[in-house]
Amino acid sequence: MRRLFPSSNAPVPTPDAPAPDVSAPEWSIAEIAEEYAYPPVGEGADEADRWLRGNMVASLDGAIHHGGRSQPLSSKADMWIFGVLRALADVVVVGARTVRQEGYRPAKRRSGFADRRAAAGQAPVPAIAVVSAGLELDFSAPLFTEPVVPTLLITGSGAPADRVAEASRAGAEVVFAGEGSSADPSRVPGLLAARGLRRQLTEGGPTLLGEFADAGVLDELCLSISPRIVAGSAPRIMNGPVLPDPDEFTLEGVLEEEGFLFTRYRRLRPTAE
Ligand SMILES: NC(=O)c1ccc[n+]([C@@H]2O[C@H](COP(=O)([O-])OP(=O)(O)OC[C@H]3O[C@@H](n4cnc5c(N)ncnc54)[C@H](OP(=O)(O)O)[C@@H]3O)[C@@H](O)[C@H]2O)c1
Repeated sequence: MRRLFPSSNAPVPTPDAPAPDVSAPEWSIAEIAEEYAYPPVGEGADEADRWLRGNMVASLDGAIHHGGRSQPLSSKADMWIFGVLRALADVVVVGARTVRQEGYRPAKRRSGFADRRAAAGQAPVPAIAVVSAGLELDFSAPLFTEPVVPTLLITGSGAPADRVAEASRAGAEVVFAGEGSSADPSRVPGLLAARGLRRQLTEGGPTLLGEFADAGVLDELCLSISPRIVAGSAPRIMNGPVLPDPDEFTLEGVLEEEGFLFTRYRRLRPTAE
């Protein structure tokens, strides 16, 4: 893996001083974690009260799945970064269709992060928070019955009461974030922060990510660009109503391995009038 941006200020090569070796060195887990460290979050004057980061992979032609799964677009390095982003987060927020389609399981303990998480006051693994209105989820699955920390179910107070009760019986913690059957995406990050889950990661899918963008609560986007094309009609990383105005992001970093680009963009806040 090598960093393309920010670039090092290496001296310009001359005949006497050849170009530095840019062959891809192995990055340690600590170096990747440093690269993707969350900004300070908490209640300090200079701190954000929470930070919502999205992580998605897309093909060169913009597709987010092949045959309904994102795995064919991914790579070893992509999965490595995916795992590090999880290991840094307090909570992973994901749409119910992705949970059903990708067969989500509870987050795993990672020994390489145990000390780091404990020092940061984090639980051993991030909680998985599933966003759903219909609650057509398998509450007998390990995601709900065997997590290291309880799985959260984010929904509206008008969601089917029998399914809410079944989720609670299975061990899920239900968070109501709206008065209808749906959750209000603009309320989700604040409700999670109120539970102490401030370092937030969303793994999509495109419907949920589009809602977070539309609500103006997405702070950062980690987008892996996969050197594959798949054509077809798979959606882009956000699939929903068009934003009234394009939302601007600034480039924070680019890593590369085997033709994959691992980009990281931070949202530029509109300046107050
Ligand atoms: N390439 C990538 O990085 C990547 C990442 C993630 C997913 N994917 C792919 O994306 C596809 C799934 O994405 P998707 O856009 O179809 O679905 P999605 O965003 O994963 O999930 C949509 C579902 O989430 C629930 N939901 C969303 N917003 C809600 C709200 N405000 N309140 C309550 N529930 C809400 C609803 O669940 P209910 O139907 O239960 O009500 C809705 O049907 C899969 O093929 C997956 O493989 C790709």
